[in-house]
Amino acid sequence: MRELFDAELNLTDRPFTNDELRDALSRADVLVPTITDRIDAETLAHAGENLKLIANFGAGMDHVDVAAAVGRGLIVTNTPGVLTEDTADMTMALILAVARRVVEGAELMQRGEFKGWAPTWMTGRRIWGKRLGIIGLGRIGQAVARRARAFGLSIHYHNRKPVGPRIEEELGATYWDDLDQMLARVDVVSVNCPHTPQTHRLLSAERLALLQPHAVLVNTARGEIVDEAALAELLRRRGIAGAGLDVFEQEPAVHPGLLGLPNVVLLPHMGSATLESRVDMGERVILNIRTLQDGHRPPDRVIPAAA
Ligand code: 8YV
Repeated sequence: MRELFDAELNLTDRPFTNDELRDALSRADVLVPTITDRIDAETLAHAGENLKLIANFGAGMDHVDVAAAVGRGLIVTNTPGVLTEDTADMTMALILAVARRVVEGAELMQRGEFKGWAPTWMTGRRIWGKRLGIIGLGRIGQAVARRARAFGLSIHYHNRKPVGPRIEEELGATYWDDLDQMLARVDVVSVNCPHTPQTHRLLSAERLALLQPHAVLVNTARGEIVDEAALAELLRRRGIAGAGLDVFEQEPAVHPGLLGLPNVVLLPHMGSATLESRVDMGERVILNIRTLQDGHRPPDRVIPAAA
């Protein structure tokens, strides 16, 4: 960034305060926010005359009011594609960790509590031969499906629309128009859709209650898609077998009801946290800025969702 542009970098990993963000918006030609920067209409009102581009470092855009930005004549871009495989890996890691009690076992070892093998001890559940229901079969959902097939899971999915016969055939995927029906029939649920007004608390208390008692829920998308309090309560009373969560409704806060449960694996939003992904994300950001600077349309433009 510094080689190519007159870049002001936030060299600490600390998010900008609101005032710092507004100051940056008022002076810069390009703002590169991350998920921890809330760019709402009120913040955007502080944009200076020079501001042309908001080049988000990340794929999800629910922290940016894209409609308000585009309404002000700004271009908005993100970094799709480059964190797909890492996020899909983490999804599989959580599915396996919960079903096979990996974290519980590892913690027990660290406490020196391994007293020797026993036939019924630390039994989890097999994932081979089970049904995986993917909510959102986009880039990341499809990458999860490819991996899950290799682990012997059959693929079920819910989207607003089916993905098309070629992808369905490749993944052997079954489309469920009715999310409620899918939830009641699968063994593992993976949330892989973006957070939008339409998916906000899509997994409501009522929907979570449709899951089978042996079901496992994994969320590597956005916490706001799941009613976290309802999930905590469901897990507490063993209404489902377990959950693997990399994202939370009020990050970095975690619903206290999720803490201390043996059937829950919690991660600090690290689905895309590989060195390779961060480098690729940065390169996408630079590509978007450079393309605009050269007078062309940046490749990763985000358009406001149709109301
Ligand atoms: C990113 C993510 O690291 O890209 C996303 O949507 O959730 C994360 O994995 C983060 O958004 C960076 O801004």
